[in-house]
Amino acid sequence: MVKLVAMTHADSVHLRPLPVLDPSQLSPLEQAKQHLIVALDVPTADAALALAARLEDQCRWFKVGLELYIAAGPAIVEKLVSRGHSVFLDLKLHDIPNTAAAAVRSAASLGASLLTVHAAGGPAMLQAAQEAAAGLSNAPELLAVTVLTSMDQAQLAAIGVAAAPADQVSLLAKLGLAAGIRGFVCSPQEVAAMPALTGPEGVLVTPGIRPSGADKGDQQRIATPTFALNQGASYLVVGRPITQADDPAIAAEAILFEIAEALGVAPTE
Ligand code: C5P
Repeated sequence: MVKLVAMTHADSVHLRPLPVLDPSQLSPLEQAKQHLIVALDVPTADAALALAARLEDQCRWFKVGLELYIAAGPAIVEKLVSRGHSVFLDLKLHDIPNTAAAAVRSAASLGASLLTVHAAGGPAMLQAAQEAAAGLSNAPELLAVTVLTSMDQAQLAAIGVAAAPADQVSLLAKLGLAAGIRGFVCSPQEVAAMPALTGPEGVLVTPGIRPSGADKGDQQRIATPTFALNQGASYLVVGRPITQADDPAIAAEAILFEIAEALGVAPTE
């Protein structure tokens, strides 16, 4: 029988159905794994598959972004899925409604579980994308990207948006919700405000995660896994702290322990 995986972090965590007989049988680290998405930000399919293989005991979820998707094509999504992984396809769709809807159907046929669309594509595009997903049995959960974290007040003003970034995030989140989208990509700083908008159904995916003491890289608005989960994040996207580590599996395991602790399911010994 197919059941939903345990709702381990408040009731706001929603995951696609997995063939799990009894969620309570998941170990603490298995529960933590449900919340970690590793960004496969590498330039080739071989590098991505090698990394996924090194991490297969620690990671269920992988994010395929534009770099890898453009280099390796849709086959990389199918390969990861065929190896039993769940894929977050971060393509940030932004096009006319008909094209966005068709792209959602294509992503579904590849087996992606999460897919990003730009909320700035507007109500008609969001509606078309969500309706396309709703018409499929294997649709990815759509995640709306509100304001990119690289956009500050000056960048917004340059494209004709006078609103403050936080107000623009809230406006675009409401557009997503009005179209029936309940998933959002948010920075750790934004995520706390989201549950009030989305309600408990929100699926909140948070990049910019750094375990304490880790190198910030080019990320400015960062947070630890514990902080992000406490603010309401459902999924944490982690790239370089795992992928650039001397031993990615050990780095991932340390993050899993931190997630398990934040969820209150860590082993006591
Ligand atoms: O290496 P790092 O952990 O910074 O990687 C974070 C991942 O999340 C990257 O793939 C990056 O493109 C993505 N991302 C982000 N900030 C956003 C949206 C996506 O860092 N606002």
